[in-house]
Amino acid sequence: MKNPRDKNGLNEHQPSRNQKVYDKYLRRAGGQLVDNNEDSLTAGQRGHISIQDIWLFEKQAHFNREVIPERRMHAKGWGAFGEFVVTEDISKYTKAKLFSKVGNKVEVFARFSTVAGERGAADAERDIRGFAVRFYTEEGNWDIVGNNTPVFFFRDPMKFIDLNHAVKRDPRTNLRSPNTNWDFWTSLPESLLQVTLTMSDRGIPSSFRFMHGFGSHTFSMVNEKDERVWVKFHFRSEQGIQNFTDQEASYVVGQDRESSGRDLYEAIEAGVFPKWKMFIQVMTEEEAENLPYNPFDLTKMWYKKDFPLIPVGEFVLNRNPDNYFQDVEQAAFSPANIIPGIGLSPDRMLQARLFFYSDAHRYRLGVNHHQIPVNSPKGVENPHNYHRDGTMRVDGNKGSELHYSPNSYGGWQDSPDVALHPDKGGEAKRYDFREDDHDYFTQPGLLFRAMTSEQQLVLFENTARNLGDSTLQIKHRHIVNCYQADPEYGKGVAKALGIDIESVDLTPRLSRSREEWQKDNKRDEDL
Ligand code: HEM
Repeated sequence: MKNPRDKNGLNEHQPSRNQKVYDKYLRRAGGQLVDNNEDSLTAGQRGHISIQDIWLFEKQAHFNREVIPERRMHAKGWGAFGEFVVTEDISKYTKAKLFSKVGNKVEVFARFSTVAGERGAADAERDIRGFAVRFYTEEGNWDIVGNNTPVFFFRDPMKFIDLNHAVKRDPRTNLRSPNTNWDFWTSLPESLLQVTLTMSDRGIPSSFRFMHGFGSHTFSMVNEKDERVWVKFHFRSEQGIQNFTDQEASYVVGQDRESSGRDLYEAIEAGVFPKWKMFIQVMTEEEAENLPYNPFDLTKMWYKKDFPLIPVGEFVLNRNPDNYFQDVEQAAFSPANIIPGIGLSPDRMLQARLFFYSDAHRYRLGVNHHQIPVNSPKGVENPHNYHRDGTMRVDGNKGSELHYSPNSYGGWQDSPDVALHPDKGGEAKRYDFREDDHDYFTQPGLLFRAMTSEQQLVLFENTARNLGDSTLQIKHRHIVNCYQADPEYGKGVAKALGIDIESVDLTPRLSRSREEWQKDNKRDEDL
């Protein structure tokens, strides 16, 4: 029988495009024929099962191991393949071969996700969306592992684990808790811009096709003359922006928990290929030194009027994976996947991510996850290195090539030209970022004032609903933070929560030091 969903003419005897040899017989993983896939082997009509039923035990044993660890965050996601084409010449900024010529094309793979929900969570939840794009370039894989927001909740990776504990399930009840979630967010005033975006009318994209993407961090580009500029990456949806209200989302979730994934899959199957234009913002090193805010602070945007969007290229997604588990579940994106001409920055968050992703992949997929087709560098065949062995090594393990260096027989050469651009160092100690820049409220205020009054109302109501059964202390703390951004923001949230603004102590929390912030928290406790 033909699979009705399959438009490519595959049937049950031809389960995969990758499988070259097939026949009509059911076989064990070892290739042996199976005599019966219906009745287990029993001693008599009503007797016990025999251990000789090798097929039954193989079938069950494989099933027992089908589930691999899910991503600790961004567990629920969907992906597709496509193509990126360079439309503008940015070679004055970068020596990356990809950008050496207008018209250059590379295959891409993108995965979109929600953050807090588990692998089975509904798509249409109020949450940040992951926006990860891999470029299979001739210089190796380049991943931009971003979100649909240009900023993040905080600027030091030390808080990342706490964020995930706070937004995920309570260890005792296994329930998600608004109180825990908002206790954390409101205690970090630097999160207000990201929290405002999440609670705004853009907090639930109607599907992945209708949202922008951002590399979020400050990266760098280095040109042939070894000149460096700081760069932010943007992907703007050619489909435009569409969002659900809370009410629409709750209806959608009731009808379809896979609404965003289904939309992406069906659009691509129907030949309606989603497209995003790629832009960069560029800041010189001198501009960065004179900026009134920290250019490497992930809680802040760079103003477009100062650093306009420069078009770069566009990517289209035009092919659904043949197999979800193979390509989407096993995709291993990492911000450490960069190519010559694209560099890093001192953003603390980016720095931490360089190690943590590969660490997660080694746990989730194993040390040889680079061999999984979606992760292998399609633009560089059989990359040379001295890595050997490890679980699930299936690519020949480099045969009889030497596996040590130096050796007397020749080895793989270094490429000094691709060394990261040198950075100025400082004395290594734990610097309190609050002493560097504690302006948490200017940008949320600007965002708030850029909203129409309808959008502001939606923001107040979404916030109030989302705060749910949080304590009065937490609600007051959020009102104070919002009030610092704009008094109308604070008043609007207070009103939506049914709290008299006169009852709130609106003394600003400027948090110049950790000690002062702790004093602020003490004040909340006394509420
Ligand atoms: C997934 C860590 C911040 C975007 C992940 C995963 C880890 C992680 C361990 C799971 C990886 C896997 O199992 O494949 C961290 C840490 C962060 C951080 C330690 C900060 C210190 C961010 C930020 C962004 C981001 C700022 C966006 C700007 C993503 C995306 C995924 C992801 C899109 C899913 C990738 C995919 O589709 O496979 N993160 N993350 N993360 N993270 Fe982060």
